[in-house]
Amino acid sequence: MTTRAPFLTNTYSAYHHRDIPREEDVLTHVGPGTPCGEYLRRFWNPVVFEDELGELPVRVRVMGEDLVVFKDRQGQVGVLQLHCSHRGTSLEFGVVSERGLRCCYHGWLFDVDGRILDTPGEPARSTLKDRLCQGAYPTHVYHGIVFVYMGPPDKQPPFPVFDTYVMPGYRARVSVRHEMPANWLQVKENCMDPAHLDFLHTIDGSQGFTADLRNRADWEYMETPVGMVFVASRRVGDAVWVRMTDFIAPNIHQWSATGDDVQRRRPVARPWMTQWSVPVDDTHTMNFRVRHVKDDYPIEVDTEQVMEFGQDDGRPYEERQRVPGDYDAQVGQRPIALHAMEHLATTDRGIIMVRRILREGIEAVQQGHDPKGIIRDAVEPIPTYGNDTIVRDIPPAPTPEEDKRLQMEVGRKVATEYISDPKVLAERGT
Ligand code: FES
Ligand SMILES: [Fe+2]
Repeated sequence: MTTRAPFLTNTYSAYHHRDIPREEDVLTHVGPGTPCGEYLRRFWNPVVFEDELGELPVRVRVMGEDLVVFKDRQGQVGVLQLHCSHRGTSLEFGVVSERGLRCCYHGWLFDVDGRILDTPGEPARSTLKDRLCQGAYPTHVYHGIVFVYMGPPDKQPPFPVFDTYVMPGYRARVSVRHEMPANWLQVKENCMDPAHLDFLHTIDGSQGFTADLRNRADWEYMETPVGMVFVASRRVGDAVWVRMTDFIAPNIHQWSATGDDVQRRRPVARPWMTQWSVPVDDTHTMNFRVRHVKDDYPIEVDTEQVMEFGQDDGRPYEERQRVPGDYDAQVGQRPIALHAMEHLATTDRGIIMVRRILREGIEAVQQGHDPKGIIRDAVEPIPTYGNDTIVRDIPPAPTPEEDKRLQMEVGRKVATEYISDPKVLAERGT
């Protein structure tokens, strides 16, 4: 049990606050056999973009396991355990072959499923290759991303196709993948922390925060069949702008483009970005981003792989101190954020709900059940709930307080309708 740090009630009391409690390991540790690691392994996770697989294999680390990803010359994609089953050489130095990947050291040849196709140094009568396999994980290539399933073979779910992957008139384009030296949970929690938008993302370097907090959105957090959403409602003239952002258990989120120009916006817009946060190990996380762009989106923009502002440490330190970004805030929470030293407040209702959903998922796996988010019988794309909806003809209420309440009510109504009948959103959003 982790002991909480003391709640300091006196000034100048750091002296009483020097013991560093342990991290909350159930939600943060991801290695093989850990509660959260086993939970996360029940889902398909991205490992590389398909276009990274050329003549050379790609070494990756996923949830503390070292792996090699390759595409053989026949176009089959494999994910093998990194170390050769002969004497352990790293297969990142392997030779991509017509079929399979050949170890550089003594030439053993491995098929994408781990079968050993050839042990060229062994006598022809050797049956070793027919009896032994290299460790391999099942893969699925979708929209230019290589996904891997690293859980127990008998629990493998179908690959989930969410509705945002197949929106008519849109195509999915891989964007960027980038690593952060921070635990996966704090990276993911950021998506259900809309309060930081008004602070971190409004720092201008000279005057501090520049958001007009009087016109700040209020948020509602609601569970969905696949995870949860935050619902932000804002006043824009005679309309209320309702924005819902998805968290899809265990590590996906998706959001729509920002901007509040009601006239130019479609009444209902679906998310333009989906992001997975895949643990590399306990203290590193790989974010994978896919954009959903209109079919007529300009090709030159479409193929740009742009890292958005503040998502990495590629700026001078002083500049990051003056105008920090998501990278700085999330990595700055320590390699693994210490829950026992936090003081959660009203802006953290989304964080609390994410943690609860994850904890319930971990417990479900421990009890032998499928966790929330595993869908085995989907005949159609699985509904998700992210959107921006403009509700028109809602004149402001007489006082700011009443109007806030009105906006929240409108937001709640929209969200409840979509969550109880996702077809409504699917129809309006296309
Ligand atoms: S170590 Fe791989 S073939 Fe010998
Ligand atoms: Fe952010």
